[in-house]
Amino acid sequence: MTRILHISDLHFGRSVAVVVHALLRKISTLQPDIVVISGDLTQRAKTSEFKQAAEFLNNLTTPYILVPGNHDLAAFRLVERLLYPWAKWRKYLSNDLEPTIRHTNYQIIGINTARRGGLYLDWSRGRINQQQIERIQQFFSHSPQTLNLLVAHHPFWLPTNQQHRGLIVGSNTAFQPLKACGLDMILSGHVHLDYCRVVEGMIISHAGTTTSDRLVTGYTNSFNLIEGDHLTLTISRYHWKETDFIYFTKQGFVKQDARWHEQ
Ligand SMILES: [Fe+2]
Ligand SMILES: [Fe+2]
Repeated sequence: MTRILHISDLHFGRSVAVVVHALLRKISTLQPDIVVISGDLTQRAKTSEFKQAAEFLNNLTTPYILVPGNHDLAAFRLVERLLYPWAKWRKYLSNDLEPTIRHTNYQIIGINTARRGGLYLDWSRGRINQQQIERIQQFFSHSPQTLNLLVAHHPFWLPTNQQHRGLIVGSNTAFQPLKACGLDMILSGHVHLDYCRVVEGMIISHAGTTTSDRLVTGYTNSFNLIEGDHLTLTISRYHWKETDFIYFTKQGFVKQDARWHEQ
């Protein structure tokens, strides 16, 4: 059985120390095979925030994989944003913006959906392009017997009352080729809400902001624990309550006829 801990939107610069320490303890206790971090590791892409994020990664006792989010780009320092947008990410966190991991039981590909800008108004919105879709297809092209995961910061699905947050641009054209290449699950963040459901035969796992005080009203810090294999798995959601992360609820999923179904 594979055990994957999905955390997101750590937002160092707005992180809560007691929550960060509790998370590190929880990771030590749960001992996942890998920790997946779906972007927004910083709040304003400052050097001090990247250093805090690097220290957090250094303290992890397990392997991890991470992708950037829109907050990992400088929002106000336009020269930095436009000319060398990922220099700090590369210096402090990882030289690879779109990492991959191949394991006997699972395979993970990360894509960078944050953009430095363009001829549109909302530069915080995520995008997936044809080149990225083809790279994902290529990555999973010969791996039907593994749990196949995509990590991307921005949402491919939103609850009805959250549609104003904006789906990742390109999601409509991405779903069919992603499903066809054997993708099982998409792990995302950005909206600071935790939820899991099946969309187009694939499982969507969203972690809320795991460690920051940038909470949506009515929600708390959270992470998801994914356990299982390429045919059956569960996702347990943990919520912060007073002094620690506490098990909140669990959803089960099975794969039949190349589609996932919630039990
Ligand atoms: Fe965020
Ligand atoms: Fe974000």
